[in-house]
Amino acid sequence: MNNLEQTLSIIKPDAVERNLDNEIKEMFKSNGFSILKEKKIKITKTEAEQFYKVHETKPFYNDLCAYLSSGAIVVMILEKENGVLANRELMGATNPKDAEEGTIRKKYGISIDKNSVHGSDSIDNAKIEIDFFFKD
Ligand code: CDP
Ligand code: MG
Repeated sequence: MNNLEQTLSIIKPDAVERNLDNEIKEMFKSNGFSILKEKKIKITKTEAEQFYKVHETKPFYNDLCAYLSSGAIVVMILEKENGVLANRELMGATNPKDAEEGTIRKKYGISIDKNSVHGSDSIDNAKIEIDFFFKD
């Protein structure tokens, strides 16, 4: 059964800063993801606040938005069978300390805030997040 799904992935500033973007992209590709679109950009704090609006009541919201807008990021549309969940699995747990062997966050994450990648958490949010970055 074919259930190709698109999801939004972001390689966060801590990883781009360490020049890990190509390695991380290879990890997606070798795990069966197609990268349909990608761009390296820098966003403003206001844009980060819009993107992470779902977290606006959380204590870490301000730091999170400051961080995502602190340096270059790589945003990508990934596609794979059951891609939303597959990407969450490949990313690993939010806190790299809890992430399993073989996941991106286990391999590259530094801390819960500098955890190297973002991935959409549902099909609905994937559509919203893809539109946020790629609607022209
Ligand atoms: O990114 P993910 O969906 O796994 O986690 P989230 O709960 O949606 O949180 C979004 C981001 O906020 C995380 O990726 C962390 O970078 C950051 N965060 C944090 O700095 N401190 C926390 N206690 C929880 C999340
Ligand atoms: Mg999330």
